[in-house]
Amino acid sequence: MDKVAVLGAGYVGLTTAVGLSAFGWPVVCTDVDKEKIESLNKGQVPFFEPGLEEWMAQSMQKGLLTFTPDASIAIRSADVIFVAVGTPSLSDGSVELSDLFAAVSTISEHMTEDKLIVIKSTVPPGTTQRVKEFLGERLAGICSFEVATNPEFLREGSAIADFMRPDRVVIGTDRSAPIERLQRIYQPLIEREVPFIYTNFQTAEMIKYSANSFLAMKVAFINEISRVCDLVGADVLTIARAIGQDPRIGPAYLQPGPGYGGSCLPKDTAAFAHFFRERGMPLPIIEAVMESNRMQHRYAVQKISDYYNTLDGIKLGVLGTAFKGGTSDMRQSPAIPIINQLLQLGTELTLYDPQALDEARQLWGDACLYAEDEYEAAAGQDGIVIVTDWPSFRQLDLDRVAQALSRKVMFDFRSLYQRAKLEQMGFDYIAIGR
Ligand SMILES: NC(=O)c1ccc[n+]([C@@H]2O[C@H](COP(=O)([O-])OP(=O)(O)OC[C@H]3O[C@@H](n4cnc5c(N)ncnc54)[C@H](O)[C@@H]3O)[C@@H](O)[C@H]2O)c1
Repeated sequence: MDKVAVLGAGYVGLTTAVGLSAFGWPVVCTDVDKEKIESLNKGQVPFFEPGLEEWMAQSMQKGLLTFTPDASIAIRSADVIFVAVGTPSLSDGSVELSDLFAAVSTISEHMTEDKLIVIKSTVPPGTTQRVKEFLGERLAGICSFEVATNPEFLREGSAIADFMRPDRVVIGTDRSAPIERLQRIYQPLIEREVPFIYTNFQTAEMIKYSANSFLAMKVAFINEISRVCDLVGADVLTIARAIGQDPRIGPAYLQPGPGYGGSCLPKDTAAFAHFFRERGMPLPIIEAVMESNRMQHRYAVQKISDYYNTLDGIKLGVLGTAFKGGTSDMRQSPAIPIINQLLQLGTELTLYDPQALDEARQLWGDACLYAEDEYEAAAGQDGIVIVTDWPSFRQLDLDRVAQALSRKVMFDFRSLYQRAKLEQMGFDYIAIGR
């Protein structure tokens, strides 16, 4: 039976470790963050991801999933090693690959027999080939090895469900042996008739960037439409519904909002654009998508400042700091530029998020106040601003919100409410593109 190691216990690594152990493989997961491993060993997931802790507990109880801070234990015990470490952006958009190569270097230090190394992290074209060459030099005369790239497409907030039933599995290799091994590992997905795409390293790497750039483009597109709807008095939600009916367009990722964010779309579009800009082959569509997204953040702030004569001293409750509902992840959240700009303009902000408030406190400290719930966030404010699409924000007790606010004003940047209902209750209701 194949044994699996996973390097990196973040959203992707932990989900991979939990998912593969649920498929019945013995998995050892390791991370350089010792506190994370300590918490996982106690059965606690150190970030919010619905259902993950429960799945993890089941695998741990069955003895199929263990965690260790000692990478050598994980590496030595495994036949297949998944690398799922972070590949963050540098300020110029390029990808920081130092964690990836540190992980690969650690693997090479502890390998004495043939293993398959699978790159799950999102990496620029050519990286898997570089990993292969790096390992080739390090392991020359020690042992043989195989390399594959297997980009991940899960969405935070539904990570486990996406892992268990992905739209597709992409495997990039330059040989057939890794394919057979990965087909065995992913047998339950083959039985579920998930489409598998086998290709070379570069194509697999490009698939991930192309997918995320396309999704970013859809979001930026509908947000751009939302801005011009304001100008002509059209309704962006109706437009999204109507164009989404066309199977060539499709309804997903056409929800207008305050701009895309998160750990993937901003980083991957920036990386994609930077990579080809550097190589003299710019991607004008992707460059425009990034600018259009920044424009949406500014537009949201503009909507607020247009409403009040001056923002200086205006008190606002902000609902949501996570980049989307269902996660505690605040990486590149649209809330960050929006809150920063509002603070610069002199507003006094009280923030509430069901899961990301600790992260928000770390970021803004004393510059903002923090509330225990939506109603405390609304108390005594000149208005309430919905930034994140948490399900609970969709079900607010609007009478309580109205009573709590000192001025009945709602900026609904996620289009969670109906204008007519809010206006009937005496609210000033401001959305984008409606
Ligand atoms: N988060 C997502 O929704 C998502 C989806 C698809 C793909 N991805 C990609 O997957 C990769 C991981 O993303 P993430 O969100 O899970 O990141 P993350 O930051 O949540 O987790 C990365 C983990 O790797 C650990 N790490 C760093 N160096 C290490 C090393 N040398 N050995 C062992 N562990 C190490 C870190 O301590 C951290 O816990 C990235 O390339 C990302 O672009 C992410």
